[in-house]
Formats: sequence, C-alpha cells, structure tokens
Amino acid sequence: GLQVLLILKRVVTIIFLKKTRLVAPEMESRSTKGRVVIKDEWPGYSLKLFTYPEHYHEDVESVYIPHGVIMDRIERLARHIMEDISDQNIMVLCVLKGGYKFCCDLVEHIKAIGRSADKYLETRVEFIRLKSYLNDQSTEDLQIIGSQDLSFLRGKNVLIVEAIVDTGKTINALLKHVETFEPKMVKVTALLVKRVPNMVENLPDYVGFEIPNRFVVGYALDYNEYFRDLNHICVISEVGKKKYKI
Ligand code: HPA
Ligand code: MG
Repeated sequence: GLQVLLILKRVVTIIFLKKTRLVAPEMESRSTKGRVVIKDEWPGYSLKLFTYPEHYHEDVESVYIPHGVIMDRIERLARHIMEDISDQNIMVLCVLKGGYKFCCDLVEHIKAIGRSADKYLETRVEFIRLKSYLNDQSTEDLQIIGSQDLSFLRGKNVLIVEAIVDTGKTINALLKHVETFEPKMVKVTALLVKRVPNMVENLPDYVGFEIPNRFVVGYALDYNEYFRDLNHICVISEVGKKKYKI
C-alpha cells in the first residue's frame, strides 16, 4: 500500500514539475533569447544591505541590480553570443564610456567559453565614443567622438556592445554608420534596455535586463560623468541629481 502511494506521489510530482515553468512567460515573448524583466514596482534593495563608495551616500536611492547579479547575467549572454558566432572571429565594438565595464566582463567570459571549448577564436576589441545625454535628458544630436573611420570593420563579424538602450535612436544611428563600412555581420548586445514609450522592440539581439523608465547609474553608467565608480546599478536620488547637475 505504502509503495503504491509513494509511486503515485512521484508521478504526481513529475507531472507537476513538467507543468511548472522555470522561466517567466514575458521573458519568452519578445525574443527566444529572453531577458531579465524588472517590473515597475521593483523598489531595489536597501543600501544598508550592500557596500558602495561612501561619497555616494544620499546620492542613490537603492541598489537596483547588485554587481554579482550583473556578472551572472553577463555569463549567460556570453553563452548566447557564442552559440551564434562561435568558430568565427569577433570584432567587438565597445561603445564608450558607459559600455566599458560591460564590454570588459563580457569579453572575458567569451574568451573563457572559447578556451573551455578548445576554440581559438580571435577576439578584437575596438572603441567608439558616443555622447547624447546631458543631466538625465537625451539631447537631440548624437556625437560620435574619436575614431570615425571604422574601415577595420569591413568583412568582420561585429558585436556592438552598449550599456543601455532606450528609444534606440543612438544605436540605430550607430548601426547605420557601422553598416557603411560593410561588415559581414552585425549583432548588438545591450546590458540594459529601458521600457520607454517608443522603445525598440527588435534591437538589440542580446539583452541583459529590461528595466523601468528610471535613471540608473553605476557599473560605468554615469550622470554627468559621476557614478562610474559604483559597482552596482543603482537608482539616482533627487539629492544626487541636484548635487551633480550641470
Ligand atoms: N543612466 C545613464 N545613462 C543613460 C541612461 C541611464 O538611465 N539612459 C540613457 N543613458
Ligand atoms: Mg552617459
């Protein structure tokens, strides 16, 4: 009797587990690769629970995405990217300055995956500097600062690495620019995409987190050049916005 009951319990458990989804449905709807969706209601973690540079005390409201979670998500993105562009050479185009940490950590993971699979793919990293934000507002004109001649992209598999995408204006302008140099393939990865009115739906190809329409700083994302030295991604406070306003 007991044996039968135990077997029955196992069967029920297996059926139940099969019905239990391990991924949130909204993660699957937009792209098969998915993204971590952070809901509008998410308040972030209390600052008291983590460490951060003391000089930013009062300048941020909460730890929105802890550094460790960022790193774990980047490892997953690196795997997705390698599934699509393995056995080939990758020309990484890092969008400065906000993308430098993401790019650095992503490339390390890409190389590690390549090593563990005994694939000796050549990873080159080039940099482009864009600027379109003043205070927390997007300005109309996109400035490409620094290397404008991207002829080294010709015939290459290009991975554009961008920290944050909202309306997609910046990334679309950059894509057009990059395509004039006739690369073989172009993929875009963004650590964050922001849910704004008219947000881009199909771009980028690989997304770390989808976040609400709030101004975030840290992990190389700035507010007038401040907060790049913060490891976590945090929500800036009103005090912080005032203190560093230009
Ligand atoms: N933080 C920092 N830089 C940005 C953001 C943001 O939320 N959105 C666009 N550029
Ligand atoms: Mg900026």
